[in-house]
Amino acid sequence: MLRFKADVAIIGGGVAGLSAALGLTNKRVIVLTKAAFGRGGSTPIAQGGIACAMGKDDTPELHAADTLVAGDGLSVKKCVDLLTQEGPACIRKLIEVGAQFDRTEDGELSFGREAAHSRRRILHANGDSTGAEVERALVAAIKCRENVQVIENCYVADLLLTDGHVSGVYGIINDSHEIIEVSAPAVVLACGGIGRIYQFTTNPVESVGDGLAIAARAGAVLSDVEFVQFHPTALNTTVDPLPLLTEALRGEGAVLLANGKRFMPDIHKDAELAPRDVVARGIWAQQQKGMQVMLDARCIGDKFPQKFPTVFGFCQQAGLDPVRDLLPVSPAAHYHMGGVSVDENGRTTCPGLWACGEVSATGVHGANRLASNSLLEGIVFGARVSQDILEQINWNQDFRVESHTYFARPTFVTQEEAKYADLLRHTMWSDVGLVRSEESMRHALGILDDIVWKHPQSLMLCNMIDTARIITQAARERKESRGGHYRTDYPEHAEHSERHPFVYTGNGPWL
Ligand code: FUM
Repeated sequence: MLRFKADVAIIGGGVAGLSAALGLTNKRVIVLTKAAFGRGGSTPIAQGGIACAMGKDDTPELHAADTLVAGDGLSVKKCVDLLTQEGPACIRKLIEVGAQFDRTEDGELSFGREAAHSRRRILHANGDSTGAEVERALVAAIKCRENVQVIENCYVADLLLTDGHVSGVYGIINDSHEIIEVSAPAVVLACGGIGRIYQFTTNPVESVGDGLAIAARAGAVLSDVEFVQFHPTALNTTVDPLPLLTEALRGEGAVLLANGKRFMPDIHKDAELAPRDVVARGIWAQQQKGMQVMLDARCIGDKFPQKFPTVFGFCQQAGLDPVRDLLPVSPAAHYHMGGVSVDENGRTTCPGLWACGEVSATGVHGANRLASNSLLEGIVFGARVSQDILEQINWNQDFRVESHTYFARPTFVTQEEAKYADLLRHTMWSDVGLVRSEESMRHALGILDDIVWKHPQSLMLCNMIDTARIITQAARERKESRGGHYRTDYPEHAEHSERHPFVYTGNGPWL
């Protein structure tokens, strides 16, 4: 067994976790990453850029107003204001540590426009490779910090609790199956989203919802977990995850066709640039009629490979040429608006536990996230978490860790269990996906119970089960449609609607 002591343990090596780590100068920090450092997770594959009010005609107030509209009435204004006001300074710091964003010929930052943004305010790097550049810059900066140790290929199993206080984490090293314990008076969850509990997703293999499940098992309050964002345009191939066809393509004039005809103008005045949930459900409705929806991005022409190198590569791998061919698309689970409930400093309801990035619910995104706000949220709230930890922890106090018994378990889904994981993902897609109802969600819970009775062992599958149950139970409790949550039995907004704190009490697969 490997034992480590740190001042702060950070679970996750994406934009949020590394932004938190960078703020913790003079503290001994251990960052635990599930994949190799700098790889895996959502940050390196994020195509869309970073929304930030830095343009001459823009203000944080305008950015906040757009974010609140997208949040469909459930955003926390205080957190939205912090995001948009602190964003520009955080981006300048990111540039100082080496991130290179696309610039105009005069050397000024170049701002793109995206749906539901009233100004050109989206920073990109190398066209559609923004996340990769952000991750590269943060990884390089962290490697220069002697106070930060990175432990790679480690699957965190659970939090350690001592007298009701989070006192560290334990996990399993993927290759060697060694158990590892990291004790620390402050733990930061920054381990991303939940997309892999859905059959179709743009999310990488790491995004199985373990942060949510781990926090729930420790008794943390969750919030807004029923709100899942489905991206309208993933390339409809057989690969998993589905390759994302960035919304910027539609920003450049690409249109959606079913049977050769545009259908979005009949659904919303902004047609293909309507809010994501509206476009995604528009495509879903065509799919229910047996149609294959196509994205026609031929208007972008010969500049396609240069403007969208990542998308171009995906198309080539699928044998398609976006300059000439129509591209088959499907909606896919893309982002989780809900998560572990935190305040404006990233504090959860469990003493000693902070959360930032997609796993957290600051309330910034409300019921629906404005495109390109998530990398910014990771940067801004990652920095706020580090500041809060420095101020909150009494570093002179003795720190005690109770001894725990650990069980080595398989980390990734075993071959025998793969069929249960597939069933779970299929069920969530069909029953708790873009369109839900009481009947479909009860059906899903029945299937999830059946899977629990098979006594799954792998950490990943157990976390997927807990996360799927959490989302389904919370979605049943929200008896309205709003943002990313649409129910056929409650198709309208409720008259009074609020955020939805949720405590998981399920007898999960762990018992
Ligand atoms: O379509 C996109 O480029 C996605 C951006 C985002 O999810 O923020």
